[in-house]
Amino acid sequence: MANLFSSYVAASALSSAYQLGLLDELSEKGEVPLLGHSGQRLDVNVLRTIYRTLHWAQVVEIKDGELVIPGARFEEAYAARGYFYWLVKGCGELFSIAPDVTHEDQRTGDFYHRDMRAVAVGSRHIGEEEVEKLFDKVLADVQVGKVADLGCGSGQRLIRIVGNHPHAHGVGVDISKAAVQLATESVGEAGLSRQISVLQGNALALEALPEFADVDTITCVFMGHDFWPYESCVNTLRELRKAFPAAKRLFICDVVRTTDLPGPDTTIFTLGFEAVHALMGDYLPTYDQWQEAFTEGGWECRATHPTTTPPNGYLFELVPASAE
Ligand SMILES: C[S@@+](CC[C@H](N)C(=O)[O-])C[C@H]1O[C@@H](n2cnc3c(N)ncnc32)[C@H](O)[C@@H]1O
Repeated sequence: MANLFSSYVAASALSSAYQLGLLDELSEKGEVPLLGHSGQRLDVNVLRTIYRTLHWAQVVEIKDGELVIPGARFEEAYAARGYFYWLVKGCGELFSIAPDVTHEDQRTGDFYHRDMRAVAVGSRHIGEEEVEKLFDKVLADVQVGKVADLGCGSGQRLIRIVGNHPHAHGVGVDISKAAVQLATESVGEAGLSRQISVLQGNALALEALPEFADVDTITCVFMGHDFWPYESCVNTLRELRKAFPAAKRLFICDVVRTTDLPGPDTTIFTLGFEAVHALMGDYLPTYDQWQEAFTEGGWECRATHPTTTPPNGYLFELVPASAE
């Protein structure tokens, strides 16, 4: 129980250390003074607490009481920073209000709050390891004229695809103002504002806007579960064909719900992902349910690529069902 308790604190410390730039600094420099973080005025007691907690978790090692170096689990923790930031900063409030929102009558109006900028940044890191490379691969031989990314989050995918396909244009759609702002900033920083636009909108109720008319490629990563439950998903899949009349391909990449009981082999992210969506009242589909919805929603699944980062993820390659 002591480990369990301290793990919760360590997850929070890891998320904070990421946002404060402590993990990046340690990764770059290899050692930092315990209380002297460069360029920021930080409360030394909080800083000491973060490092001490991360020392407990073997993410860092405090040497001689004054120097911080990477610990035995630093590399692993650094690679997993997106999961922790998504969980703690992005979705943390849900865990503190969990008993309240379990009462169905307390699920009215905006009954929870998530930090959608943190969700987008965390998701970007989660996708960096494997999903982005998978997209590079599946799109390598495809002529992309214009790509629409639904639930575009940080905008990173559009930037990467347009970077890889220099004549391509992109349009991002996200329901969250914070994500639209982040994506717009990122596109600007990448110098791609002329090629990529970002709109605030609901992917479940898109109209055939002029910006969508020449979109040939649609991507949707880590938000497909928001299409659900089943009827809504089928309807959204059908409506996408109307909103994007020139679409030749749709790539949906998402984590599916597991059905086995959790145990010692349960992967990172799985319990957090499933708990957060249960707390928000969202339905998570299984792999088989997705396949059913594709068929009824007017899309043919031509290929499926499983991912291990994130665990239980799949990239589905879809084409409009009537296409040859
Ligand atoms: C987990 S994040 C994934 C972000 C990004 N696709 C990525 O791969 O990093 C999910 C994103 O979908 C957005 N989203 C959720 N429901 C949406 C909807 N109905 N329409 C448009 N965007 C939505 C959220 O605001 C959030 O930015």
